[in-house]
Amino acid sequence: MTDSSTQPLHDTGYRGFASDNYAGVHPEVLEAIARANGGHQIAYGEDVYTAELQNVIRRQFGDEAEAFPVFNGTGANVVGLQSMLPRWGAVVCSTTAHIHTDENAAPERVAGLKLLTVPTPDGKLTPELIDVEAWGWGDEHRAQPLTVSITQTTELGTAYSVEEVAAIADHVHARGMTLHLDGSRISNAAASLGVPLRAFTTDAGVDVLSLGGTKNGLLYGEAVVVLNRAAVDGIPFLRKLDMQLASKMRFVSAQLIELYGTDLWLRSASHANAMAARLRAAVSGLPGVTLTQETQSNAVFAIVPPGVADRLRQSFRFYDWNPATGEVRWMCAFDTTPADIDAFAAALARELEAPAA
Ligand SMILES: Cc1ncc(COP(=O)(O)O)c(C=O)c1O
Repeated sequence: MTDSSTQPLHDTGYRGFASDNYAGVHPEVLEAIARANGGHQIAYGEDVYTAELQNVIRRQFGDEAEAFPVFNGTGANVVGLQSMLPRWGAVVCSTTAHIHTDENAAPERVAGLKLLTVPTPDGKLTPELIDVEAWGWGDEHRAQPLTVSITQTTELGTAYSVEEVAAIADHVHARGMTLHLDGSRISNAAASLGVPLRAFTTDAGVDVLSLGGTKNGLLYGEAVVVLNRAAVDGIPFLRKLDMQLASKMRFVSAQLIELYGTDLWLRSASHANAMAARLRAAVSGLPGVTLTQETQSNAVFAIVPPGVADRLRQSFRFYDWNPATGEVRWMCAFDTTPADIDAFAAALARELEAPAA
């Protein structure tokens, strides 16, 4: 019998490749939470941590930037997009966008917005692809495409270059639309591109950003970051209405301060990216493995022969990406170790050699 009051209920040595969300909390973030504990602070965001977070966000994203901490990434996307659009507005996004595939239609049901989706080869929109759905302004029969949402890094692990985001922003603004960036993995993108966070956000013309945290070592917590105040309306009200207003906000803000007020965001994301690069190198020569996307962040996408994924999953969890083609996603986190990668690659090699059952 284990004593559950003093012993963890799980194997703390186990690490899989399903998602960076499977990782725990970075120890420096846990310490920051502990430092923010004790005594009383004004609830609902009028605490000193949330005030200090504004300074951190302005240092990262420029003087106009304003952060609205929320609980999760879906909430950040819903609140941010809802603040950018009228009731009749529509959002152009890729078919692989998290807002389309993995938020149970919350942007549609909660925010009340229409999503206009465009297929992409690599998760990245371009001005030409945006134009597939960006039309029909003034036509009362069509939901009005007034915002474009891109994800950085994309759901396929690819990264937009600074120039690609800037070209999209120019294109979008020239048509009277605004640009939202789902930055759930924004740190992985900056680490991969070797640029500051503001290079492909504020400086490239993004209007509103969903700033990630959880996937890069927070317990929980993200933020809507407004980069262009003229592009939004009513965020404080929408955040409450959308059930994203934390009463004990100091603990969300303290985590975001620790991540973005130090180099922790970059250290953790660089490490996760490096582990994905190591994984790619380790599996790319294996017979039967076809890599399907570039590895520009912390995820590797590959097609493996039938049966291999299921057998491998008995030791390491990971997700099918496209069951029809056998495509899988292997994702690394801030705490993935080189030994994890080597063990996984060796297990994959063994499964590939094993005779089909
Ligand atoms: C691209 C992207 N955006 C947003 C999210 C946020 O999701 P959650 O609401 O689970 O925090 C995720 C999580 O997987 C994601 O991958």
